[in-house]
Amino acid sequence: MIVILAADTAIPLPRCAGGSNIAMQFRARSLEANAWDEDTAMKVLKTIGIVGGGALAAFAAVKVLRSPRCKRRLAELYNRTSVAIDQGVGWPSLPVPLALGVLAGVRNTLRETNLVDTNTPGAATGTPPAYPNVVTARTPDGTFNDLKCPFMGSAGTRFGRNVPLNETWQEKQPDLMTPSPRVVSLELMTRNEFTPATTLNLLAAAWLQFQIRDWFSHGKSIKEDSWQVPLAPNDTWHENPMRILRTAPDPTRTAADDGTPLTYINTETPWWDGSQLYGSTADYQAKVRTGVDGKIFIGKDHLVHPDPNALVQVQSFALVGWWVGLELFYTLFTLEHNAICDRLKQEYPEWGDNDLFEHARLINGAIIAKIHTVEWTTAILGHPVLQIAMRANWWGLAGERIKNLFGRLSGSELVSGILGSETDHFGVPYSLTEEFVAVYRMHPLIPDDITFWSRETGEVLQKLNFQQIAGNDAQNICDNIRIEDLFYSFGLMNPGAVVLHNYPKTLQRFERPDGILMDLAAHDIMRCRELGVPRYTRFRELLHLRPVTTFEELTDNPEWREEIRRVYNNDIDTVDLIVGLFAEKPPKGFGFSDTAFRIFVLMASRRLNSDRFFTTDFTEDVYSKVGMDWIADSTLSTVLLRHFPSLAPALNGVNNTFAPWKAKGAQG
Ligand code: HEM
Repeated sequence: MIVILAADTAIPLPRCAGGSNIAMQFRARSLEANAWDEDTAMKVLKTIGIVGGGALAAFAAVKVLRSPRCKRRLAELYNRTSVAIDQGVGWPSLPVPLALGVLAGVRNTLRETNLVDTNTPGAATGTPPAYPNVVTARTPDGTFNDLKCPFMGSAGTRFGRNVPLNETWQEKQPDLMTPSPRVVSLELMTRNEFTPATTLNLLAAAWLQFQIRDWFSHGKSIKEDSWQVPLAPNDTWHENPMRILRTAPDPTRTAADDGTPLTYINTETPWWDGSQLYGSTADYQAKVRTGVDGKIFIGKDHLVHPDPNALVQVQSFALVGWWVGLELFYTLFTLEHNAICDRLKQEYPEWGDNDLFEHARLINGAIIAKIHTVEWTTAILGHPVLQIAMRANWWGLAGERIKNLFGRLSGSELVSGILGSETDHFGVPYSLTEEFVAVYRMHPLIPDDITFWSRETGEVLQKLNFQQIAGNDAQNICDNIRIEDLFYSFGLMNPGAVVLHNYPKTLQRFERPDGILMDLAAHDIMRCRELGVPRYTRFRELLHLRPVTTFEELTDNPEWREEIRRVYNNDIDTVDLIVGLFAEKPPKGFGFSDTAFRIFVLMASRRLNSDRFFTTDFTEDVYSKVGMDWIADSTLSTVLLRHFPSLAPALNGVNNTFAPWKAKGAQG
């Protein structure tokens, strides 16, 4: 039986985060009649092809039918058919136009059924902080992005969910420790030999972590009452049981939350607003600003220096998780911010420090969002469908040239892109979600062995292990090796593939800057159970994916299959989400699983759709003419070359800056 969350069953009602709330309905309808097998799906496919010339045409037909009821029914049919086709044959095996149409239908379904609010119904809103300009500038803590719901998406609000609330209970003993997270780490994650992701360079890994630090953090774990993981007698870990610190509790819970699953706080602003650079509090922002010409601080050596006291994840500059890769991107976009300020000051000499800062922040943030959407994503999801779909998110199917020449042709995000369209929260206040965090635990991207080369001579400068370029040591590396050589070396190295048996050894036994030892792989497993993220088979079902009922369906790797079967005592439904994600065979060209991709399909566009500064306020009035031109002209390689022109030979002829660069010897 296939469970479909039908389009008409979950129409979330609009509400305001932390304000007067209307409880959200999340009802799944089981459509037993829809036991789509491959044959049926192919027939439907053929029918759609004949009748409408493809799913896109079917969608267009829906648009022309006037009656709202008829429109709604057709939209439902379209969405359900898309999900059914996807479950039957899978979108990757369809011709590109059909795959695009099916993914659009899948996304509609996800928007209707998989955005779940976790705020307390009826909770008091409180008074938002006062900022001098909330209309045309991003505030430090992300308040007032939605002027009617000022707290929505601000730092200190709750993570949302992509599955129904009743599926998000924290696991209880003995399930919580079964199988032991440490056993999962050792037996399924241990990297014996490095498996590289050969289509990517190491900047792709550093970039993702740089993004994550903008989007979310669970804050500093608490030291009391830690989780105790009993270890096998032959385990070499320094303590038994192994301690895993608990996630900080949500201080905003009230009696009204009793009897509901636990909730957690995102200490960062979930908006795509560059908060990894600018911080998520007014205090932090004040510390990074120089107070002159809108600029932000950079060291005399032209490097960003993380605050050595920030040994926690509460602040973006936290040293936990800090390494050379982060230092490169923090430095690059600090330089970019200051370069934008210079250009703005030249064009608008009457602007003061605040005007310059606020505009530069908006522009810098939009460049980062653009690079992620049209460059990083198309590199890590190297499938023809994604090359079109991601560019369409930014410019629409009409394309970059048309959008730049004529602006929007239509209100439709499909035709003219999400940028500049109407803001849309899809009926649920904006937040990022626990499921989103879980699928981005992509630590296998990190290699254990690092080589730095000179871009001028091609000679090896240093060979190190990962721990030697992380934490406090990152600064030493950056002091001793020129940043151009570091970028060049990152451009040549591959990240790890996001698969089983590829977890960096250095992170499996990772010493935090404060001396605490962690097995991060065991943490990744434990966190999902603690935070009530469903296990793999249930997760797929709730995201409308074809159910996986056997180990054979889970992975085509016979060795992994038997290992997983053994660790999970032959019970497929207990396989942890992350194990399933890493075991699955991804679509051709994909750097991560199709299951993780569902969260991506839903949330990548939502980060843009919900944000006033990417939708209704993505205008010259708000960004300035100079700003809009700067964004249109910027790519990662133009940003890199603006600040480090000597990288040009290594980038010459490279189509995507996140793909491997040209080594000295190969530069013509
Ligand atoms: C490929 C780049 C990386 C990605 C995509 C990534 C992703 C993540 C994610 C999604 C989380 C969960 C954050 C939260 O719950 O708020 C996390 C936590 C963490 N990451 Fe990474 N990370 C990356 C690199 C690193 C590196 C290089 C380090 C260490 C130098 C690191 C250390 C940690 C630590 C210590 C945690 C907290 C674990 C916990 O208590 O749950 N990460 N990471």
